[in-house]
Amino acid sequence: MTETASAPLRAALVGTGAIADAHAAALAATPDAELVAVTDRDPEHARRFADRWNIPRVDDSLAELLERGGIDLLHVLTPPGVHAEQAIAALDAGLHVVCEKPAALSLDELDAMTDAAARSDRRLAVVFQQRTGTAPAHVRDLLHSGALGRPLVAMCNTLWYRDPAYFAVPWRGKWATEGGGPTLGLGIHQIDLLAWLLGDWTSVQGQLWRLDRETQMEDVSTAVVTFEGGVVASVVTSALSPRQTSSVRIDTELATITVDHLYGHAHEHWRITPAPDVAAEVQAAWELPEVEEGSGHDPLVRDIYAALRSGGPLPSTATEIARSFEIVTAIYSSATSGQVVTPETLRADAAHRRSLESPVVDLRRA
Ligand SMILES: NC(=O)c1ccc[n+]([C@@H]2O[C@H](COP(=O)([O-])OP(=O)(O)OC[C@H]3O[C@@H](n4cnc5c(N)ncnc54)[C@H](O)[C@@H]3O)[C@@H](O)[C@H]2O)c1
Repeated sequence: MTETASAPLRAALVGTGAIADAHAAALAATPDAELVAVTDRDPEHARRFADRWNIPRVDDSLAELLERGGIDLLHVLTPPGVHAEQAIAALDAGLHVVCEKPAALSLDELDAMTDAAARSDRRLAVVFQQRTGTAPAHVRDLLHSGALGRPLVAMCNTLWYRDPAYFAVPWRGKWATEGGGPTLGLGIHQIDLLAWLLGDWTSVQGQLWRLDRETQMEDVSTAVVTFEGGVVASVVTSALSPRQTSSVRIDTELATITVDHLYGHAHEHWRITPAPDVAAEVQAAWELPEVEEGSGHDPLVRDIYAALRSGGPLPSTATEIARSFEIVTAIYSSATSGQVVTPETLRADAAHRRSLESPVVDLRRA
């Protein structure tokens, strides 16, 4: 595929369902991109979507789209069960790929996608849009520079509400097509933000619970995750919580950082609260930047395209794609063995690298 400095990169979407509008809107706002083609298993759906967004080309299948060519990047927006095969087909055809979360059904599939990107010398970006925005970038810099002292204890909660109809969608609620329950499908956003801020994990102890919904998987999970440097985090994911909230809290030696939001955050959702006796001039250096940008698909897509068009590396908001998937996998692995999982034991857990399918403690009323 040709990429020239003068022409915008040509984008295509596979999957024109619920999340596709966020990608089309982000691409429309990106001067480095032009959305030129879409395809979906449901051709009528694809046609209506293309009409709505003025997209010139609708292909009958991904195979046809790749065969016809003329595309630089494919956005994979289908259910997670087909992400790996579609992303690998696109990478092997010489396209870069932007893939919605969860990137795959398993770490083995994610490895295969990363291998395909390496052998084609193409880039694979995964959508974790909660990493984006000026506040998390600032907080990450503060944490990494040591300005807030050592991080000690953290909480990471995804308390969302998904009614029974949500689990009745054909690809949801099944190990074979969704890959995992809300820990993978919902909690991964906050788990990813936590890990993006704190770095590499060192241990996971997790449990999976089915409390109410009709699903093969969990509807709630609880876990304790430790990170390098000695941070201990409590991680709770629920699909049963009527007052919905997404939150990350990190207590360091000098301050408490919190972000409380639902599906996206801006400066108003972040707080840095000093410990007693922290000098005013020290606190002054923690202030969020004056120019504000909230989290979302727009900044992520903009920064990915700008990097690709300039030939530079992908932004940190789009790389390190395996870390949160590993933590999620370790929760399922630990729930199965009842043991604390470490990066070494997870590497050796071939069954969970292949599939997250795990026993769930069923506490539903008969
Ligand atoms: N980043 C986020 O905040 C966010 C939010 C919602 C969904 N997602 C992710 O986006 C992905 C899609 O979710 P959704 O809610 O849009 O799903 P959806 O069911 O609304 O849409 C999926 C679309 O893919 C099409 N499709 C299914 N199989 C296909 C195939 N083999 N080839 C071509 N098209 C196929 C369907 O016809 C449908 O139009 C999932 O991985 C989901 O987790 C991410």
